[in-house]
Amino acid sequence: MISKNLQRAREYETECGSRISPDCRPGFHLTPHVGWMNDPNGFSYFDGKYHMFYQYYPYNSKWGPMHWGHAVSEDMLHWEYLPAALAPDEAFDNVGCFSGSAVDMGDGRHLIIYTGVTRVLPEGMSECNAYTEKTDGVVNNRTDGLLDYDWRDKQVQCIAIGDGVEYSKYSGNPVIGANLLPTGGSERDFRDPKIWRTSDGGYNCIVGNRPEDGSGQILLFTSADGYKWQFKSILARNEGRYGTMWECPDFFMLDGKWVLLTSPCDMKAEGLEYIDGNGTLCLIGEYDEGAGEFTEECAQSIEYGIDFYAPQTVVTPDGRRVMIGWMQNWKTLDIKGANEPWFGQMTIPREISVKNGRLYQWPAREIEKLRRDRTDYKNVIVSGQLSLEGICGRNADIEMTLKPVEGEALYNSFELRFACGGGVQGAVENEQYTSLVYSPSEGIMTIDRSHSGVRDDILNRRSCKVRSGGEITLRIILDKYSAEIFVNGGEQAMSVTMYTKSSADGIAFIADGKAAVDVMYYRL
Ligand code: FRU
Repeated sequence: MISKNLQRAREYETECGSRISPDCRPGFHLTPHVGWMNDPNGFSYFDGKYHMFYQYYPYNSKWGPMHWGHAVSEDMLHWEYLPAALAPDEAFDNVGCFSGSAVDMGDGRHLIIYTGVTRVLPEGMSECNAYTEKTDGVVNNRTDGLLDYDWRDKQVQCIAIGDGVEYSKYSGNPVIGANLLPTGGSERDFRDPKIWRTSDGGYNCIVGNRPEDGSGQILLFTSADGYKWQFKSILARNEGRYGTMWECPDFFMLDGKWVLLTSPCDMKAEGLEYIDGNGTLCLIGEYDEGAGEFTEECAQSIEYGIDFYAPQTVVTPDGRRVMIGWMQNWKTLDIKGANEPWFGQMTIPREISVKNGRLYQWPAREIEKLRRDRTDYKNVIVSGQLSLEGICGRNADIEMTLKPVEGEALYNSFELRFACGGGVQGAVENEQYTSLVYSPSEGIMTIDRSHSGVRDDILNRRSCKVRSGGEITLRIILDKYSAEIFVNGGEQAMSVTMYTKSSADGIAFIADGKAAVDVMYYRL
């Protein structure tokens, strides 16, 4: 039985989604069927396809009561929309179906685990103005007369079982509630379960939570069948080091190490490594499976661009660990106008690996099948600004090697400008562009979209530490409204969205001093 809320969302997305012209979407990045998208959810391989669900509010291009949108793909680049999978429609999730994950149960069933959110009054607060209303089986906590902040979110973990298209919420939900929290664990910040299968056929699941100190912790739960869960341990503790609440965790073994990914709220910048605000964190270390404890050895930011948050990973049938993130950040939401038919997109799929205690990312090899019209340049000496014939466009895969010129002084900086043009009445001073600037003596790479036609001067620039010395490789994936940059074989990745007019398709190479460049360019 499909609930009224889900039915309504499906009718709305079918009607309004079909009115969005494919021309105003990126070519191979997933965008919401209609309306708002945030975190990737339930990224999994099931029944011969990759499934991607996402935090979804179909009725507006702003965040609202969370549904789960759904799309499937064979290559993680061409996505087909399926009907919305979940709507807030039960007593345990009537404020929203927050982030979660999915796993193949191995018997034709696909298991979704997500956070159900409801609103309650804090203990001791008068309920005289609050009441619960039930209409068509949908429970609504009415807040008439009470201020919004009087209410507290209550978060629990719920499951839904499906066949890849239709999902039924389990009548015994929630499967992980406050009764399974360790002492001091907050029931208000208890979300984003990530599930995986264990070698004995059982299930493990980690969930983000806030302990009494107000920072973050990751809790581990175990289950034999996916329905009945026990608390196992506190897998990892923030202890006030990296932001506060740790959202959207993922945990897996990769190249002989254990990797914990999470997206902390309220991070503080540490040099160029982390930023102030919603950041990302990758901890690499060892895992004691018996005790359920993770020991950190190295820490880094997952991403160094402007728009990235809440990534999830999947293992491909041929054994690669692939990550997709929300190519947006809570701190940069105002970049696109409010009345757009869609907002939010996912990154490209990225193969990840661990080398020498560092997380590497590289565009999944599937993207190479999209490459067309190769253009090569070898050892071009750039001094001042130049453009190269055949190298332009907003959908491209560009590989570059930069070197100092033999016998010449080290160049001062190198800049790649893309999405250039579109100036008002062609005036050069009004031209838009986004730029990537490398300073070889300091070893700093900066992405800057201040001149990309953004509507508000919010966060438009970010720098990160890369190798110094002037020899560097870059791979840049452009897809109309975004650029994803991979430095030195994926030691750093930087994502940025830009809503520059699509007519702005110039690419320019600029050096202060003399730099030698090899370029391999494909249209995508
Ligand atoms: C992260 C997040 C999650 C939550 C979801 C709500 O971006 O805040 O913690 O489940 O978004 O949409």
